[in-house]
Amino acid sequence: MTVPRVLVTAHLPGDAPARLAAAGHDVTYRDVVTAMPREELLAAVVGVDALVAMMVDRVDAELLDAAGPQLRVVADVVVGYDNIDVAACTERGVLVTNTPGVLTDATADIAMALVLMTTRRLGAAERRVRTGEPWQWNFTADLGTGLRGKTLGIVGPGAIGLATARRAAAFGMEILLAGRSAPDPGVVDGLGARVVELDELLAASDVVSLHTPLSAATHHLIGAAELRAMRPTAHLVNTARGAVVDEAALVSALEAGEIAGAGLDVYEDEPRVHPGLLGRDDVVLLPHVGSATVETRTAMADLAIANVRAVLAGDEPVTPVRG
Ligand code: DGY
Repeated sequence: MTVPRVLVTAHLPGDAPARLAAAGHDVTYRDVVTAMPREELLAAVVGVDALVAMMVDRVDAELLDAAGPQLRVVADVVVGYDNIDVAACTERGVLVTNTPGVLTDATADIAMALVLMTTRRLGAAERRVRTGEPWQWNFTADLGTGLRGKTLGIVGPGAIGLATARRAAAFGMEILLAGRSAPDPGVVDGLGARVVELDELLAASDVVSLHTPLSAATHHLIGAAELRAMRPTAHLVNTARGAVVDEAALVSALEAGEIAGAGLDVYEDEPRVHPGLLGRDDVVLLPHVGSATVETRTAMADLAIANVRAVLAGDEPVTPVRG
């Protein structure tokens, strides 16, 4: 009997890769934190039965062809699996799995942190102290805007969007929800929220927070027209995927004063950040840390490995992506 081969493309917290080896698999574990260079990945994937992929690994027809017909599963260690060409996997009979659920709270926490950071101008304030710029308490310095009674518009009310809404409701915010699929009416009622169309949400929200997966339908969902539809006092928060926003249009909208600020954890062309954002005090810029807690990343790794083990054992994957 041949021993199934598994490639893990980067370091994972916890002992998940060791568990694969203990289960009798032949594991190639690239225990390095940085992304696997493409050429190295294309060479390493040849002949593997399972690939444990990171968000920065592009899994497309070229990679699948390089891997060969024995590849059975791609376990993506993310919730947003836009790095994977699911149709190309499905065509070749390769299962795709992701890690939903376990990163909901961590990502919602960062969305809420960005809501606070951008509305209270905390990035700029922190930078001033750090750079040693002289400062003294003064009654009207660094005035931000409060959240109580303000409206948070959640675009994409899935698990993370709703978890963000729950946090914002605890801060006294009113909640609007817009997205392709409406959440359960009980959940909407529990939040005291209203489900509206995107244009109404954009016009009525003090903060717009994005939580949609990236797809052809959501690419540049927020562009020049949508930014213009927002209030000049409103803030945009993005913890989903950078390309949901037209970043050049965002820079123009900020320059024109069409919106008041933005809190971003994700970018169109990571790790590059649009140079027009870098010098602005009305934006908060984080390096894609939505799910970056020890607990969450360990749970994501565990779930990815559980998916590989299930598929290689001939069982249903735990969290399959439906192609
Ligand atoms: C995800 O899982 O989609 C995050 O953006 C990366 O951790």
